[in-house]
Amino acid sequence: MERQISRKEKKNIQKRNYLIILFTLTFVLFALFFKVIQLSMTKSVAAEETIISSEIYPGLNLKTTTQETDTFTLFISQPYIKDEKMNNQIEAFINQEKQNFITEYEDAESMLKKNGFRGHLNIQTSTEKIADKIYNIELETYKTVGGANGTTTVQPILMDLNTNELLKINDLFELDEASVAEIKNLVFEEAENNPDVSDLIFEDLFNEAMSNPDEWKVLIHPESVTFFFDEYEIAAGAAGVIQLKIPMEKIIYYFNSAFAEKVNLEIPKKEVKLSPDGKYIALTFDDGPHAEVTPRVLETLEQHGAKATFYMLGSQVEYYPDIAKQVFDEGHELGDHTMSHKDLTHLSADQIKNEIETSSHQIEHATGNLPKSLRPPYGAFNDTVGAISNDLGLPVIMWSVDSLDWKSRNAEAINQKVMATVHPGAIVLLHDIHATTADALPQLLTNLEREGYEFVTVSQLLEFGELEGIGPHHGINQ
Ligand code: NI
Repeated sequence: MERQISRKEKKNIQKRNYLIILFTLTFVLFALFFKVIQLSMTKSVAAEETIISSEIYPGLNLKTTTQETDTFTLFISQPYIKDEKMNNQIEAFINQEKQNFITEYEDAESMLKKNGFRGHLNIQTSTEKIADKIYNIELETYKTVGGANGTTTVQPILMDLNTNELLKINDLFELDEASVAEIKNLVFEEAENNPDVSDLIFEDLFNEAMSNPDEWKVLIHPESVTFFFDEYEIAAGAAGVIQLKIPMEKIIYYFNSAFAEKVNLEIPKKEVKLSPDGKYIALTFDDGPHAEVTPRVLETLEQHGAKATFYMLGSQVEYYPDIAKQVFDEGHELGDHTMSHKDLTHLSADQIKNEIETSSHQIEHATGNLPKSLRPPYGAFNDTVGAISNDLGLPVIMWSVDSLDWKSRNAEAINQKVMATVHPGAIVLLHDIHATTADALPQLLTNLEREGYEFVTVSQLLEFGELEGIGPHHGINQ
């Protein structure tokens, strides 16, 4: 007879089954729990963030982030500002560095674990105040995913808390093709004079790194401008991160004037160092300023980084003081061409003096500066004109190359005439009142540059007064 299972026994069996299920479930849960803990230990122990407000740099705080897992350590210090836009820009950079590190780290993870190496990402911030609320920030990133081969990169940031902007290269410098090339030369010169760098630098890499100003990495100091290059960017790895400091007196001429004012730097007028064997010529423009032609002439000169001398008529300056001022502000030299363009040799001593002085006053009134030399109208000169001019402190400047621009009124003819007669030390006569002269100028400057000529002002040229071929001129410097 089959044994009947009592109700009680049935209940006990059910109870035992429940216990087994419960026990198994608990075990699985525990196992899962420990796995999760273990995973989180290796992958992502929560990062710790601290924000330190600074008393030395008002408005500029420091945020530090630390994170330690069983295979890597993260230490990041970064500037933290109330302005969201600026903060996001900095954050984007930091995140990029983190991402790069994590990618490298994941690639090397198994090797790291096997050898017991730890990965490190360390970003340090150094701050320097350069003017009121304008800061140099240097972010130095060191990263290693194990072993000795860590890499260091530097990201300089210029921060203006007056306007809440990260300053870009065009905020700092006034750049055109010529100035970019000149700054590049300055930096290269510095690299060649730096014994730690000179033997290791690769010129093609350097040229590439400097070819796009938007990617220049610079910081401005009161006495210098530092250009930064990452490891391997322009030189063999042994050179490490390269910092090239360009002395302020060499680079200040390229500063944006608004920025210079902000950081209390005064941009001096550029002094060209003339070498006795250089091919220098002085371009001179008479009879202006002219409302349309003079600005066109100035634009072409600017494009070529050329300086010239403008013999202005007082009567024209009176009408166009702003253009006269612009000529001076753009670094050109002022000359006196008398008040009303009369033949001085037909005037009395008093009239001559009056013609020159009135014009000089007009020029001074418009530009804040006195002219440095006199060109008598028509080149008409005699001993009286020479003596008076000498008394007034103005050397009399003639010309050695006549473009005949007033006669030909033809760009091609002007070019041919000048190129056929030009010589080192030449003073070239042109007029900034004929549109055809402005038309001729771009090609003329290109042609002269091709022949190796450099453009200087009359005063600069007169420094070589003792050399042959300068002039002609009369008076003080002769
Ligand atoms: Ni004239």
